[in-house]
Amino acid sequence: MILILLGAPGVGKGTQGALISKEYNIPQISTGDILRNEVKNETELGKKAKVYMDKGELVPDDIIIGMMENRIKQDDCKNGFILDGFPRTVAQAEAFDEMLKKNGLELHRVLLIDVPEEEIIERLTGRRVCPNCGAVYHIKNNPPKKEGICDKCGSELVQRDDDKEEVVRNRLEVYKKNTMPLIDYYTKTSKLVKIDGTGEIGEIFERIKKVL
Ligand code: AP5
Repeated sequence: MILILLGAPGVGKGTQGALISKEYNIPQISTGDILRNEVKNETELGKKAKVYMDKGELVPDDIIIGMMENRIKQDDCKNGFILDGFPRTVAQAEAFDEMLKKNGLELHRVLLIDVPEEEIIERLTGRRVCPNCGAVYHIKNNPPKKEGICDKCGSELVQRDDDKEEVVRNRLEVYKKNTMPLIDYYTKTSKLVKIDGTGEIGEIFERIKKVL
């Protein structure tokens, strides 16, 4: 099963992707997480990517496409995978189509998660993440058991640099300009399904399971 999670920043791609990954036993591949890991390890790629990420801009297509070509060839992707944050431009979607063709694979579904903009801003500014294991929380909607501490590994939670309100607003503009054209792109393939991303996390997951 090969899935794409599409939607604006903060609609819950990471949250739902983790649930789908567990339920169907396929890896969740988040380009944002891969890039943040490169930044943390101060690699050449990380240093280049950070400049764009801090402003809420997209990292150039050639960097992302090369990175994904390598990732989907890995062993854990044999039974499928969930893409969270890729593709994000028409050029990336075209390159991904080529990758699928070259490897004899077929895309199953594109899940477009939809949430109103005011709620997105509230979700992102209240998000806290674990720098160690990547778990995602929200100070009000999905708090950890102990304030500021990751339930899974006990590390101290942090706020992502790009979750400041002015950067969030730019990320939303970048989404509208560069990523929204993918809605048309995948509607044409009849693989796109729109999911109402409002309500409880579990409720949204039930909607996704019905579609899958
Ligand atoms: P990336 O990490 O992909 O960020 P994003 O797309 O902006 O998505 P987010 O991770 O912010 O949100 P999400 O939809 O996963 O929501 P989440 O589940 O966390 O990308 C970061 C940067 O990397 C980009 O800006 C770019 O620079 C670069 N990049 C990445 N991929 C790239 C690419 N392909 N090309 C070029 N550049 C790329 O949920 C958000 C919050 O809401 C959490 O606190 C969560 O607990 C809470 N929440 C979730 N569901 C609910 C609910 N139902 N109700 C209430 N709260 C909820």
